[in-house]
This record gives sequence, structure tokens and C-alpha cells, in this order.
Amino acid sequence: MGKQLRRINRLGKTKAGRRRSKGPRPLWKSPLPAASCLAGAWRGKALQGGCAKRFPLVAATGAVLASACCPGYNNPMSETLITTDALAVISDAHGNIEALDRVLEDIERRGVKDSICLGDAIGYGPDPEGCVNRIRERGIPMVLGNHEQGLQGKEYMDWFVPPVRKVLQKTRTLLSDSTLEWIQTLPPTMERGDMLFVHGCPPDSVNKYLYTLDEDDLAEVFASYAHWLAFAGHTHELNLYVYDGEKAWREDITDQPVPLDRTRRYLVNVGAVGQPRDADKRAKYVLLNKAAATLRAVFVEYDAQKTVQAMKRVGMPEAYAKRLL
Ligand SMILES: [Fe+2]
Repeated sequence: MGKQLRRINRLGKTKAGRRRSKGPRPLWKSPLPAASCLAGAWRGKALQGGCAKRFPLVAATGAVLASACCPGYNNPMSETLITTDALAVISDAHGNIEALDRVLEDIERRGVKDSICLGDAIGYGPDPEGCVNRIRERGIPMVLGNHEQGLQGKEYMDWFVPPVRKVLQKTRTLLSDSTLEWIQTLPPTMERGDMLFVHGCPPDSVNKYLYTLDEDDLAEVFASYAHWLAFAGHTHELNLYVYDGEKAWREDITDQPVPLDRTRRYLVNVGAVGQPRDADKRAKYVLLNKAAATLRAVFVEYDAQKTVQAMKRVGMPEAYAKRLL
């Protein structure tokens, strides 16, 4: 991936201004810009960016209406307004139904209607069938994780180190035929507007770990796709990678909203719901506030001892249970 690709900006245009491909359009793009601004103002968006400049009266009217009707409108960090414009991104539940249930309850309590799962609902934990059922019952779209891929065929199973291969063989015995069939249908990526979702690493790797990439590698990854926001799991760590068109760097994600800049691009590593590999053992997910263009991590307490006992009961290795405590 050379320097020429690095010159491609976030809309997929070269410096000569030619669009590289039919890539995704920016979010909120509308053929009726004034109407779009009014709708945006209602959602708390029109005071940002060019809308207020181009259509000041429309933006101001929308803002007054929204402010009058929606408590919290003037606070861009407010989560009371954004429920229809919020997206919860979850990943790596790994058969930990206790953690997943608390996370899904948290998402529901916030009134967030839209969720996406980045894969690895199974593996390690005692209830992979329960986790898959929760995701399917709620109609949460899910991309293929490397643990689901491991059950798609022997060639994928062989990629795992022996202890994890054993876990996956045990996991297979805990899954219904219906779930095993569903696993075969999972897509490696999903796109929504100018957002890309993948388990490992954009543009479409199920297995590549983001922590193996240095800053140059990351810049090449960003140059290999055109989406404004990409979301990945797999590392079980929470990180935000930022790209300014030239260089990429890593930032932390906390429970404080991070404002997203339209002149930059972001790759969000969303952490794990059910198998932490960092110092914080709580279940984690990421909440995107599309209207305010912010994202934050959400940390959820759950009864890890219950999961550990269940792992013992089904015969999962103790090493993976210890990670939960
Ligand atoms: Fe995982």
C-alpha cells in the first residue's frame, strides 16, 4: 500500500479531485439541504458545521423548537435526546450471558434502539447458545468473529492454538443445529452509510489484531477504505485510532464523550462484553451519538462469579475463567 493511496482523502477523492470509487456517501447527506438542516436542528445537529452558516434562519428555528421541546438539547453531551440517533456497538460476548444480559439491559435503559455486534458471541464462556439467541431475538446485526469462523470449517479451526481449539470444540457441543447453520451465514463486514463494521481490522479482516500495527501500518489501513468511522473488536481492548489524512495515532476512550471531527477519520476498537483482556474487568461497549457526533465507552457491572461457576460446570478451562475476576 503506497504513498499514492495515502493521498486519497476520506471521501475517496484523489488530489486531482476524482472520486476513487462508488464508496459510501457521508452521513446525513440530503438532496434537500435546507430540509436536512431543519431535521438536523431538531436532532440537535444543525448548530454544528456548515448548515448554520448556509441556512441560519432554518437552523435557528430548528434549534429553538428542539430546545423548547427537548430537555438537554443545548447540552451536546446529553443522552436524553439522542435515543433514536444513537448506536450501541458491542463485541466479544464470548458466551458470557451474565455480561451480555447486563449490557443489553443497559442499552435498553438508555432507550437506544440500534445496536450492532462485531462478532465472537461464542467461545470461552459457558452459554454461547444463549448469547447467540439474545442477539438473534433482538434482531441485532452481527459480523463474523474469528470464533464463529473457527466453526465454519476445519481449515479455520486449525488457525487456533491448541487450548483455544479445545475450547471451540467444547463450544460446538453447546450449540444447536440452528445456531451452527446461522454461523455459516454471518458476513465478514457490514456497512452503514459511512460506517464500516468488522471483527478484526478494516477493511475486511476477521483475524488481524489492531495492536500488532504500528503508526505506519495504521495509516495504510486507513488508506485502504473510505469510511469516516470504522468499528472493530477482536483485541478485547478499548482504543480509538485517529487519522488526519497523513498520520494515524492512538487515543483512549473513556466514559466521557469524545467529539468526532468531520475532517478526520476514526477506527474504534470497542472492547469486550464478556472476556476482558485489560485492567478493567467490567463488561464494555461503545455508544455513538450520531446527532452530536460523539462517542464514549460504557462500563457495566455484572456477576462474574456466576459466569465462572457456570464455566466450571460445563468444563471450560480455568485460565479463561480467571480472566473474568
Ligand atoms: Fe474475541
